[in-house]
Amino acid sequence: MTARAILQPPLRAISHSTEEAEVWAELRAEAMAALIEEPLYAGLIQATILDQRSLAQALAYRLAHRLGDGDLSRLSMRDLCLKAFEADSRASAHAVRDLVAIRERDPTCRRYLDPFLFYKGFAALEGYRVGHWLWHQGRATLALHVQSRISEVFGCDIHPAARIGSGVFIDHATGVVIGETTVVADDVSILQSVTLGGNGKESGDRHPKIERGVLLSVGAKVLGNVRVGEGAKIAAAAVVLADVPAHTTVAGVPARVVSRLRADEEPALSMDQSFGFGDGI
Ligand SMILES: CC(C)(COP(=O)(O)OP(=O)(O)OC[C@H]1O[C@@H](n2cnc3c(N)ncnc32)[C@H](O)[C@@H]1OP(=O)(O)O)[C@@H](O)C(=O)NCCC(=O)NCCS
Repeated sequence: MTARAILQPPLRAISHSTEEAEVWAELRAEAMAALIEEPLYAGLIQATILDQRSLAQALAYRLAHRLGDGDLSRLSMRDLCLKAFEADSRASAHAVRDLVAIRERDPTCRRYLDPFLFYKGFAALEGYRVGHWLWHQGRATLALHVQSRISEVFGCDIHPAARIGSGVFIDHATGVVIGETTVVADDVSILQSVTLGGNGKESGDRHPKIERGVLLSVGAKVLGNVRVGEGAKIAAAAVVLADVPAHTTVAGVPARVVSRLRADEEPALSMDQSFGFGDGI
């Protein structure tokens, strides 16, 4: 299967624009409530969300606020972020699905406002989307600057050339590393300290290919150009050095199949961290 084939359009029937409008309306309502609840944060909430005209604008403002620095000002960073989200409708649609994914999968998340303002995984992923756009505009220097700032600020290192689908949930984000030729399909969940890296022996296309609906548990290391099949579950601290069949759980160092999952189970969506059933193959 090619990298292109695993990045399929989302399965949901709802259109991006409808979903974006709904999420934006809810985010604004949550911002209004938070502004009344916490006067000390009112200025930030007003400027970041209520003064903005779209979710893309608000996201550009928030990312720039956190990623701007002495090398590239907040104003320049905001301009870049906005260009990326406005020029590439996929980037803003992906951001909406990422936000929805967090709300659906993270038991600590009760409203869109929290990941939008605070969660490092969301910020790192959307910052990556800006860097990815720059990379494909031939602006590698700026793309690498954005990658470097994301790494400094959020402790999460994603190469701008990596290809990441939508509805992706990066929980906590600390210590997550995603290499240059990695492909991550839609609806994947990635916990802290996951590495999608090379094995040090291959060159060129040398990073993992993660298919739809995979759950990568805390500390999992997937090394080399290996394929993790749809709906697979990678256990905490597993070191994956070979292809993982779809709908299986693998664990250990090196990782071995320990159980099978039903084809209709969606571990990345349910965040079910039990082994599944099977015979400990
Ligand atoms: C450890 C490493 C160097 C081994 O490479 P190698 O010598 O070519 O070994 P192979 O991949 O052929 O594996 C040889 C055996 O060791 C096992 N093995 C490989 N890596 C292992 C690890 N980290 N722990 C335990 N066993 C390991 C393999 O499963 C295999 O066992 P088997 O023969 O019973 O099937 C390599 O797997 C590795 O970890 N490279 C570094 C990757 C890295 O840090 N990347 C950074 C990404 S950002």
